[in-house]
Amino acid sequence: MEIIIQPTTEAAAGIAARIIARLLRDKPDAVLGLATGSTPLPLYQALVAMNLDWSKVTTFNLDEYIGLPREHPQSYHSFMWENLFRQVNIAPENVHIPDGNAPDIPAFCASYENQIRAAGGIDLQVLGIGTDGHIGFNEPTSSLASRTRIKTLTPQTRKDNARFFGSEDSVPHHVITMGIGTIMEARLNLLLAFGPSKANAVAEAVEGPVTSINPASVLQMHPVVKVCLDEPAAGQLQRADYFRWVYENKPAWQAF
Ligand code: F6R
Repeated sequence: MEIIIQPTTEAAAGIAARIIARLLRDKPDAVLGLATGSTPLPLYQALVAMNLDWSKVTTFNLDEYIGLPREHPQSYHSFMWENLFRQVNIAPENVHIPDGNAPDIPAFCASYENQIRAAGGIDLQVLGIGTDGHIGFNEPTSSLASRTRIKTLTPQTRKDNARFFGSEDSVPHHVITMGIGTIMEARLNLLLAFGPSKANAVAEAVEGPVTSINPASVLQMHPVVKVCLDEPAAGQLQRADYFRWVYENKPAWQAF
């Protein structure tokens, strides 16, 4: 894991944007895995400002609420079109977001996995992290080998996401999410975390044991993970000074 700690959220998101920009320049038909929520917003803003060519890019989103109409302002379909896709030249047929209204959810989940495979797998997966350590919506105790499937949100996650819906009661209980096994097959995982509410989950994921109680900790088993943090999100890392030194002393050829 490469831990990149930056003084501001914008600086951390800017590094993540440069990592993605480099991939899109090297591989114009890259397959990106994308996340929603507050965390990727500064990343998507930075990417939009870079005016990259998205015409050959394919995307797969991590998750979607079940039962929320696609056009609901809090659906992840709405989120992605609003905050990224409408502002870049992506081909709509290359966009994949789980269908939370699919009549047969297990069949949909199996076909989502097949579509990822048919696209050649995910080159780079963007991840946020929940305050409980979830990635995608793989809540604590999720199987570390799980594939795309239905999950039930924990009370903590519904509470955390109430800010988007106005009340906790309005947050759906069920979601479709890529599994941890699916995420682990991405060639590069790019995890972003901002703000003090993520500090504990980040410290457990990076420095704690690998455990399904903190699903993000499984990333310790992945060969290429970059973690972009602002200072508050790095606030509970015991080795923060070491991580800062490593980043500041990277050889020029490794710099972003
Ligand atoms: C969303 C997702 C989730 C979020 C996490 C953090 O697609 O996969 O894992 O990244 O719930 O959400 P925010 O960024 O809103 O704090």
